[in-house]
Amino acid sequence: MRYGHFDDEEREYVITRPDTPLPWINYLGSEDYFALVSNTAGGYSFYRDARLRRLIRYRYNNAPLDVGGRFLYVRDDDSGDYWNPGWQPTQRELDDYTCRHGLGYTVIAAGRGGIRTETLYLVPPGETLEVWRTRVTNERSVPARLSLFGAVEFCLWDAQDDATNFQRNLSTGEVHVEDGVVYHVTEYRERRDHFAWFACSTPMQGFETSREAFLGAYRGWERPIAVEGGAMSGSIANGWQPVGALQTTLVLEPGESRDVTFVLGYTENPADRKFDPPGSRRPNTSGARAVIDRYRQTGRADADLAALRAGWEERLRSLQVATGDPHVDRMVNTWNPYQCMVTFNLSRSASMFESGIGRGMGFRDSNQDLLGFVHVIPERARARILDIAATQLPDGGAYHQYQPLTKRGNDDIGAGFNDDPAWLVLAVAAYLKETGDLAILDEPVTWDNAEGSETPLHDHLRRSIDFTLDRLGPHGLPLIGRADWNDCLNLNVFSDQPGESFQTAPNRPGGVAESVFIAGLFVLAAREAEAIAHLRGEEAEASRCRDAVATMTAAIEAHGWDGAWYRRAYDHVGTPVGSASNEEGQIYIEPQGMMAMAGVGLADGRTRTAIASVRERLATPHGIVLHQPAYASYHLELGEISSYPPGYKENAGIFCHTNPWLMIGEVITGNAEGALDYYLRINPSAREAISDVHRCEPYVYAQMIAGRDAPTHGEAKNSWLTGTAAWNMVAISQWILGIRPEQDGLRVEPVIPGYWTGFRATRQFRGTTYEIEVARGTRRGPAATGSVEVVVDGRPIDGTLIPLPQPGTPRVRVEIRLA
Ligand code: BGC
Ligand code: NOJ
Repeated sequence: MRYGHFDDEEREYVITRPDTPLPWINYLGSEDYFALVSNTAGGYSFYRDARLRRLIRYRYNNAPLDVGGRFLYVRDDDSGDYWNPGWQPTQRELDDYTCRHGLGYTVIAAGRGGIRTETLYLVPPGETLEVWRTRVTNERSVPARLSLFGAVEFCLWDAQDDATNFQRNLSTGEVHVEDGVVYHVTEYRERRDHFAWFACSTPMQGFETSREAFLGAYRGWERPIAVEGGAMSGSIANGWQPVGALQTTLVLEPGESRDVTFVLGYTENPADRKFDPPGSRRPNTSGARAVIDRYRQTGRADADLAALRAGWEERLRSLQVATGDPHVDRMVNTWNPYQCMVTFNLSRSASMFESGIGRGMGFRDSNQDLLGFVHVIPERARARILDIAATQLPDGGAYHQYQPLTKRGNDDIGAGFNDDPAWLVLAVAAYLKETGDLAILDEPVTWDNAEGSETPLHDHLRRSIDFTLDRLGPHGLPLIGRADWNDCLNLNVFSDQPGESFQTAPNRPGGVAESVFIAGLFVLAAREAEAIAHLRGEEAEASRCRDAVATMTAAIEAHGWDGAWYRRAYDHVGTPVGSASNEEGQIYIEPQGMMAMAGVGLADGRTRTAIASVRERLATPHGIVLHQPAYASYHLELGEISSYPPGYKENAGIFCHTNPWLMIGEVITGNAEGALDYYLRINPSAREAISDVHRCEPYVYAQMIAGRDAPTHGEAKNSWLTGTAAWNMVAISQWILGIRPEQDGLRVEPVIPGYWTGFRATRQFRGTTYEIEVARGTRRGPAATGSVEVVVDGRPIDGTLIPLPQPGTPRVRVEIRLA
């Protein structure tokens, strides 16, 4: 069952009924001001940091779902009928409804009783505000007298405090109303020099700033007394719950349309010009006024929309493909890079599943987020790498996250995840391959953000490698620490206290738990580090990395192999995890894909066997589960992984992030059909037809799809903010379609299924546009790498690496003929 459809031409997903299984959302803004907007106009907004600068409230686990966000009411002042064009919260029936989520904007259109509205939501580039531009049309044959009410419930800035510290914050709320604009000025009188404001483009008929006055005592947002009665009282909030609610009235002749724009914005004032006049208590609104006046002009939102769309077209030009498979094309061309941009911006901080409170920019996460996206935003990737590396600890370890406002690392959600540093090496390697910008390696970068501690970025890579080598266990495999990529495999924690965080509870001392997965990841990273050292002519460092790769590979061969797949780990007392000798959790997905990527077990066929074992034991029609059998009961020695009910999250859920590793593994071992098959199992567009099962948005990946042990097998959860976005982009574009940046050129080595006749692609790479055409010869069958003919600008070349053209070459034509 579907709740809408893709409009590929417009790069939009069109939702055609408001009661989607979960809020289906979009992200507005990409620099400082961010807004999450759902298909019912729910969601929240913040400036830079979803915890510390939250503008409006959102209640995550509310009933009904998704009440809160951008309240817009249309009232027929003749009949008293009122409704929400986004359906919520009144849920009054609409004659028609569509929500179009586009790239950086959302349009909700609805009609009731001959009154049509179309509201465009966007965050204009370069501004710290959001626009809700409503075009109201009277389709009746008689004039219509209408009121429009726009309302927001302000968050008192710190989203955590706002939801918990009531003894204080039921008294602190303050507003200031001036010239029809509601300013939210809580704490501005003391240490804040920022405020929020809510304004309307047309003269205001009335306002409320006290929630109770707007809604009425014991009423909810579905029945505001002010909307019901059609009049506002001009309340001023003193503590309790400040809101911004504005009413504007309009009379529309038959067929007439008018635009009404509500704007929610954020303004910072210089500390010495907070008040006007200085010394008074009146907030200085001059800066905000100038912005508001700009947004009162008609046509402004259309210009912003055009700019947003043009910006995305430009960015997306970096890779466009035509494969004939709509699920591949629309994800690669539009939605997958778009999701990558959102994960790049917000890491794991703010979604409908992440409260924006606990988790900032993950060290591991942000490094991986770059992998699938560096080609779209190389300059921002460069800056991001330097920011992340600057938080690295002097021993090469990492804080697990850093806060976007301060860019400083913190241990709030734990420390000592021993895989963290290796991902930095992979991110830097990806950046170098994409850009060739070796100069980044000489950039001075601090350790733990300490001024004066700078050493070149290259040194950070070296210490990342050392970090693992300094922490080897009894089998010569890397110590796992608190956990590795699988945050829930906590082999040293032994938590028996209800509610204790597995992320922050102390590790039991003397643990020797080791991770076979980190061993594979280390080999992958150390190979990259070796190549980078070689590029810099640092042969001693290169050979050190080479030796480390050899030693680690030997340890994997000796202690990582279980007979038909790679083991996952050794626990605190040295018992294997992910082994046929275990009762549960016999085989895990993570090491099987990672070994293939690291080039371990390719020569002796073990990796091929491991990949076959995954297909046999872990693959389901909805994707590949993390391990089998699921843990039926809690295992003190394993940690959080066994705390989840079987089939959910890390306990044998389909953790989508890992599936691309197997797609890549299938490609590397030459199984084109297998790779694309896995790709399509979790591709959200390919799951659109089962939206009632999948439940999350069909245009973005979710972190998790419930595994085969779960009663709700196939149900997705935690959409948007997941490493799945970047890794799927890598798997499909670089390995299946085979368009892969390398230091010395662009490799084009498709491994596509026999039933594809070919595809076309354009790829921008280091200033040149590659026009790629792949066609299959007469012989059908899986494409084995090597059996290809490559013609570059009319001349056949050996191999599949397209050498770099003369700098400044605008275009290169690449023709590939597969056997
Ligand atoms: C989740 C993981 C997450 C970790 C750290 C766990 O509860 O299951 O997916 O990475 O918390 O926030
Ligand atoms: C989500 C976290 O953001 C990511 O870092 C981790 O690898 C996965 N969960 C698996 O636990």
